[in-house]
Amino acid sequence: MSVNKEVKRITTHVLHSMKASSEKIAVLTGYDFSMARILDAGGIDVILVGDSASNVMAGHETTLPITLDQMIYHAASVVRAVQRALVVVDLPFGSYQGNSKIALESTIRIMKESGAHAVKLEGGEEVAESIKRILSAGVPVMGHLGLTPQSIYKFGTYTVRAKEDAEAQKLLDDAQLLQELGCFGIVLEKIPAQLAKKVSESLWIPTIGIGAGPHTDGQVLVTHDMLGITKDFQPRFLRRYLDLFDLVREAVEQYIKDVKSQDFPNEREQY
Ligand code: KIV
Repeated sequence: MSVNKEVKRITTHVLHSMKASSEKIAVLTGYDFSMARILDAGGIDVILVGDSASNVMAGHETTLPITLDQMIYHAASVVRAVQRALVVVDLPFGSYQGNSKIALESTIRIMKESGAHAVKLEGGEEVAESIKRILSAGVPVMGHLGLTPQSIYKFGTYTVRAKEDAEAQKLLDDAQLLQELGCFGIVLEKIPAQLAKKVSESLWIPTIGIGAGPHTDGQVLVTHDMLGITKDFQPRFLRRYLDLFDLVREAVEQYIKDVKSQDFPNEREQY
């Protein structure tokens, strides 16, 4: 039997056992109560309250505008829905970089006000002090390397990262550092599959890939992308499991027809 099926509640320790027993970890993003309830009922291992909420929930072009208060609102909604999954919350842009005291304050607000189980932040050596301080308060931390969308204006493009040797070596070094500091896992975003394999094999903590190939210890997708709610975003790594945009639009069109034609509500749909 899988490690996953034996447990009532996923913890960071369960994720470590899953890596040790080569059971892949399934992660999806969640931002609201109703969707989180469905993800949890489906048996997802981890719900990431990603700062991608800035894009898919609020319609911003980047993840930079979302605030700590908004992340806490999303996280609290998800936590209220979840019985089994581990809930990890992104520290938003500006809430942890360059000042470990602010990083700890932001984390404490997330943990106290949302009831989440862990936080995630982007970067390696540059954010080491923030990671240490958060861990010293007993809060599990997940790292995020490769394409780190909060640095989009530094990169200039959302293209694959670490294709060159120097950047690949820095990523390998950063991954080691995050493990040594005590991170419980690392998201690897949009890097070559062979590099993700090398990183994953060099660590005992799990790697969770997005656009990083099949060799990471788990996979994460943005729920709105895999369900086809977002229509225009079509990167090569994305597998769509539904085309909800069209399904919902068709339902809306039918509802409008029914209202206009006075088919809705009928005799059984009234008091
Ligand atoms: O914000 C997010 O959804 C993420 C995932 C894409 C890993 O960080």
